[in-house]
Amino acid sequence: MKSLFKIYSYFGFVIALTVAQSEVEEKFISSKIVPDVLNIPPEASCVVNYSGRVVKIGETLEISKTLMEPSVQFDFDPQEFYTIAMVDPDAPSPNAPAMREFKHWLVVNVQSSSQGASVQGSSGDTLAAYMSPAPLSPAPHRYIVLVYRQPGRMDFDEPIIVKTAGSSALRTNFKVQKFAEKYNLTGPVCGSFFYEQMNKVISL
Ligand SMILES: *[C@@H]1O[C@H](CO)[C@@H](O)[C@H](O)[C@H]1NC(C)=O
Ligand SMILES: *[C@@H]1O[C@H](CO)[C@@H](O)[C@H](O)[C@H]1NC(C)=O
Repeated sequence: MKSLFKIYSYFGFVIALTVAQSEVEEKFISSKIVPDVLNIPPEASCVVNYSGRVVKIGETLEISKTLMEPSVQFDFDPQEFYTIAMVDPDAPSPNAPAMREFKHWLVVNVQSSSQGASVQGSSGDTLAAYMSPAPLSPAPHRYIVLVYRQPGRMDFDEPIIVKTAGSSALRTNFKVQKFAEKYNLTGPVCGSFFYEQMNKVISL
């Protein structure tokens, strides 16, 4: 655990804190997700589970491991409602991310059946159906899963993307942090991320 001096700007006040840096903070900063996507790192890590394959924060995964929507586990409070998002800030390529962020998954009004249980996207209202990573560059993309706490069950005035095919144009240039601010979401209360890159072509 590293200690670092942090300065956050919060409603115009500058707050300086010296705290122990957790793994999730360290990884979100060293990967530059802070500041590329978020001002501050998630408060904790969440367990992102692809059919039994649990993501180790910051690891590189094969495209074939993330085809199906994952479940997400966190210390969910069954009284609260949550938003789950997955974004790629490196589309179409990390060097020229003109589509930043690409919205892979967005589910709102998610509720956990019991404390700490894992949730499926089906436990909420889907605003963007899960679209599995398909990076178009050999350079790795960051795929970031975030959970925010909502003020309660809410109506979201957003386009609803129910299918995967042909929906790409509706998914580009999303800003998860702006979305959170617009709907007064708290957090991210947890996060995780992994890398994927275009399958290398093997030439003989
Ligand atoms: C991941 O999901 C599988 C079911 O697909 C489950 O058996 C396993 O316990 C889960 N792992 C964790 C760490 O939650
Ligand atoms: C967010 O909070 C502000 C201030 O309390 C309120 O005016 C606004 O309506 C809220 N926005 C939403 C989308 O609930």
